[in-house]
Amino acid sequence: MNPRIEINYPKLVNNTRVLQKKAKEHGIEIAAVTKCFCGIPEIAQAYVDGGVKYLADSRVSNLKKLQKFPNPKVLLRIPMLSEVQEVVTYADISLNSELETIRALNKEAQRLGINHKIILMADLGDLREGIFEEEEVMQGAKEVEGLSNIILHGIGVNLTCYGGVIPSPKNLSRLEAMGKAIEKEIGRTLELFSGGNSSSIYLLDTKGMPERINHLRLGEAIVLGTESAYGEKIENTHQDIFQLVAEVIELKEKPSMPIGDIGMDAFGNTPSFEDEGIRRRAILAVGRQDIGSYDVFPIDANMKILGASSDHLILDITDAKGDFKVGDEIRFNLRYGALLSLMTSEYVTKKIVY
Ligand SMILES: Cc1ncc(COP(=O)(O)O)c(C=O)c1O
Repeated sequence: MNPRIEINYPKLVNNTRVLQKKAKEHGIEIAAVTKCFCGIPEIAQAYVDGGVKYLADSRVSNLKKLQKFPNPKVLLRIPMLSEVQEVVTYADISLNSELETIRALNKEAQRLGINHKIILMADLGDLREGIFEEEEVMQGAKEVEGLSNIILHGIGVNLTCYGGVIPSPKNLSRLEAMGKAIEKEIGRTLELFSGGNSSSIYLLDTKGMPERINHLRLGEAIVLGTESAYGEKIENTHQDIFQLVAEVIELKEKPSMPIGDIGMDAFGNTPSFEDEGIRRRAILAVGRQDIGSYDVFPIDANMKILGASSDHLILDITDAKGDFKVGDEIRFNLRYGALLSLMTSEYVTKKIVY
């Protein structure tokens, strides 16, 4: 069924292996992020085949789907108070910054007679999650250490998400120093120093990763083969593992300028147009409800996306290679935003190509 997203399994295993090897050479374990494909176990299997130790997701419902894998599961989003039972049941480790929530996790773990590990998150300036004041990180760590069923497993940071702050030897050394101070205070070593996401990868090449950072949580770097600090491709990885395939439902020659007074488009924006005369246009049966943004790129760079409404994507194919007819399929590479939306859309078939 079209539209579909094709997932090239061997390429995904390759990217996982390349990053796993790269990280391992620096003493780092990877938590491979499954949210980009809604935690579908058949796709997560590629991470496991690629040799990663941890599986990570921001949604407990996705971690629940991954229970068949023996790999420790990490919950990336700070837990909701209303989900603590599911968190301690389906996640082995969760990232946390609110003591109230950690206490609730403790209570629930106690009730179930289990232990739950947490990574205490510090905010080093990106201003999404994490405890901002160093003193408060220390106080938090001390309190957590005293809880009966919560294990302070490590310390972590998230960067380049809200504020666009790039991981650097300077800010990650602050994390390292905070972790060391906590170790001194509690009299034992912390298992994990979790140094961020795909934006931290470049520090491995520049030899800027502080020594104690031994954990990274990677999504984009594996699935798209790009690091997210500067948007560079990662050597020996594929950038076309996930491709959208959509079908032509109309092919016509039409003027590039609409005829009539211009009001608003389907999403309340006022569009503008250039007069390029008569152009050959294809309408594809996929739309903003599926792709979210315009983060899709025709493989044939001579095709141009003109616009999209909820269920239609309009292309200018005047300069495209080859002849087209109704029913033909057109392929696209994706950026992260479109990948998330396409994988989440129930209108899009997910096809793993082995
Ligand atoms: C806390 C946290 N860590 C890591 C990641 C992975 O980010 P990236 O896809 O940039 O590697 C995410 C988002 O998916 C996240 O929310």
